[in-house]
Amino acid sequence: MTGYTVVHDAAQLVYTRNETVKTVPDAALAVRDGTVVASGPSDEVTREYPVDGAAVSVDASGKTVLPGFVDSHTHAVFAGDRSDEFAAKLQGKRYQEILDEGGGILRTVEAVRDTSREELADLLRGRLDAMLAHGTTTAEVKSGYGLDVDTERKLLRAVRDAAEDHPMTVVPTFLGAHAVPEGWETDAYVDHVVDEQLPAVVGEGLAEFCDVFCEAGVFSAAQSRRVLEAGAEAGLTPKVHAEEFEHTGGARLAADLGAASADHLLQATDADAAAMDDAGVTPVLLPGTAFTLDTDYADPDRFGEVAIATDFNPNCHSLSMEFALDLACHGMRMAPGDGIRAATAVAAEALNRTDGTGTLREGAPGDAIVADASSYEHIPYSFGVSTVDTVIAGGEVVVDG
Ligand code: NIG
Ligand code: FE
Repeated sequence: MTGYTVVHDAAQLVYTRNETVKTVPDAALAVRDGTVVASGPSDEVTREYPVDGAAVSVDASGKTVLPGFVDSHTHAVFAGDRSDEFAAKLQGKRYQEILDEGGGILRTVEAVRDTSREELADLLRGRLDAMLAHGTTTAEVKSGYGLDVDTERKLLRAVRDAAEDHPMTVVPTFLGAHAVPEGWETDAYVDHVVDEQLPAVVGEGLAEFCDVFCEAGVFSAAQSRRVLEAGAEAGLTPKVHAEEFEHTGGARLAADLGAASADHLLQATDADAAAMDDAGVTPVLLPGTAFTLDTDYADPDRFGEVAIATDFNPNCHSLSMEFALDLACHGMRMAPGDGIRAATAVAAEALNRTDGTGTLREGAPGDAIVADASSYEHIPYSFGVSTVDTVIAGGEVVVDG
């Protein structure tokens, strides 16, 4: 039997597929043709998939094997530099003041309009490489820094270009309703998103999800509904940036529309959480955003199971799911096992993945991390230094510790 990868003699293998994490000591994992074919005690797995017969073998002695991270919320395709806004925020300037003054998202839009598709794809490739090195094997990437037909399409084409030859699984989202561009009235811009941008993006099959920034002073719940309903009609599954700065009804909208996820949720209520739960909407919490904006964290206890994501963007400049996990535990007080599930199996639910992504169950994508940690608790317990050692995507070693 040839052509398989075996990761053997791990101190611990982490299963995430049930409600809590389960672990197997002295464990191994075998992957063939991109999917997991066996996992469990090392002696059992290697009897069927011997180390000396493997195309690739990874000695995981003393290390922990877990599913690759799933980052379900990023704005990773952009150009320009907003590090000066970071300095201003440290002086007390608020995110929405910057946005109101034409900074923030709108500055990135200007930079993106001046950048070629090729250059955007190169910038994204560099970021995907860094994410992969930190254990992310599936990442969603949103547009939203174009705000016109040509530039939204350019961004999503750049996402497709960068994803094509990259080991990471990349999930594209159309976010034309990210901000209202200069010179537009909001309802007219919503018409433009629905009538012009959406058909252009869908016509080329450039996106899987449609998202909207439902927020006071940006898009109301009614305007967000228009965009998401039109998106759904065109075949894009809804997602919502909801209840971040002010409570505006985005979480209830997500529930009404059966969205895959509602994200941020700092101002969400218990009633919102119940409605989302009933509708099967995955709550996605973004602790890095609260960290960099110096606001309170969202409350994970309000919800059933939550996912966590980086929200990587020029305002929240972290590509590391492990850092999001560290914040989820140290900042939001999530238990390490819940945090690991939030970064893997539950995160895959936020992307409607039903193929076992984020679980390492048999038949699932063979995407795994070998972490320099004697148990999964050590991954968030240790912060500031990455524990990610080796990364496997579809059974290939793509980052060799
Ligand atoms: O999720 N809130 C809207 N979008 C991003 C921020 C994007 C930006 O500042 O460039 C977010 O936090
Ligand atoms: Fe976001």
